[in-house]
Amino acid sequence: MAGRASEDQPSADEVVRETGWVFNNETGERLTLDEFVATGTEEVGWYCHHLGLFWGTAASGRTFVEIGSGIGRMTAALTRHYHRVVACDLDAAFLERCRETVAIHGTVEHLQTSLVEDGRTLVLPDDSADVVFSYITLQHCNRDDALALVREALRVVRPGGRVALNFRTWTAKDVLLVPVGAVVRLVWRIIPPLAKAPRLVTRFGWQANRLTPNDVVPVAQAARPDAAMMMVFQSSRRPSNMTSPVPVHRLEGAHPGHWWLVVQR
Ligand SMILES: C[S@@+](CC[C@H](N)C(=O)[O-])C[C@H]1O[C@@H](n2cnc3c(N)ncnc32)[C@H](O)[C@@H]1O
Repeated sequence: MAGRASEDQPSADEVVRETGWVFNNETGERLTLDEFVATGTEEVGWYCHHLGLFWGTAASGRTFVEIGSGIGRMTAALTRHYHRVVACDLDAAFLERCRETVAIHGTVEHLQTSLVEDGRTLVLPDDSADVVFSYITLQHCNRDDALALVREALRVVRPGGRVALNFRTWTAKDVLLVPVGAVVRLVWRIIPPLAKAPRLVTRFGWQANRLTPNDVVPVAQAARPDAAMMMVFQSSRRPSNMTSPVPVHRLEGAHPGHWWLVVQR
């Protein structure tokens, strides 16, 4: 629905301003695609550096899988660093927009798109990616789909490759966000066209799950008991350490509710 709503917008600039599902926290009413992609480029630099995802140059032939690419905010920068970037999303219209974004801001010959039709299965071979990455996506899925995508990421990554998946855990604001989000999504199920919601409503509606390291790490350990390394990065702005079955590190600049699972196969 969100993707189809974005088809109503005449230009990508309007899409980043008007489509409730296509924005990050720093956007404004006069946002352009250029500015939107600039936020993604900065975040690619930050997270790939701190999570150890930069491997050589695009010429080194590596494959990067991005789960939940949206319209390519981060994908554009990724295609400049990786020989092949597989942008995966459950919204076919967003994938079309993603190709447009990468054609303008990235290296479109390095892009492949892949539809996640059921929201939980990557149509990609085993052991085929050097990196599998996901940012501000798994929090928007049903809990079971998010955990299925964790297993999929660990299936698709090749031996020696790395997985970096971003999740959202509980914060004080969730006392309001989570129940209001559940009501908004119930209304969307009853009246699907309302899912073409403007930003404010979407912000509530997309608060679909909260997962902690204790929920996710055992799933990852069962999928890859032979992983060479498994760790959690939590925001340095979170006052206390998260409880986790694997070591927890702190990451500057991350949203206090966000954390990352990083696995080296
Ligand atoms: C908030 S956007 C983030 C896009 C991009 N990662 C970024 O940072 O700009 C979340 C994206 O995840 C996609 N998405 C949500 N659930 C998904 C699922 N189960 N499988 C694949 N993509 C999903 C949505 O269609 C949307 O494009």
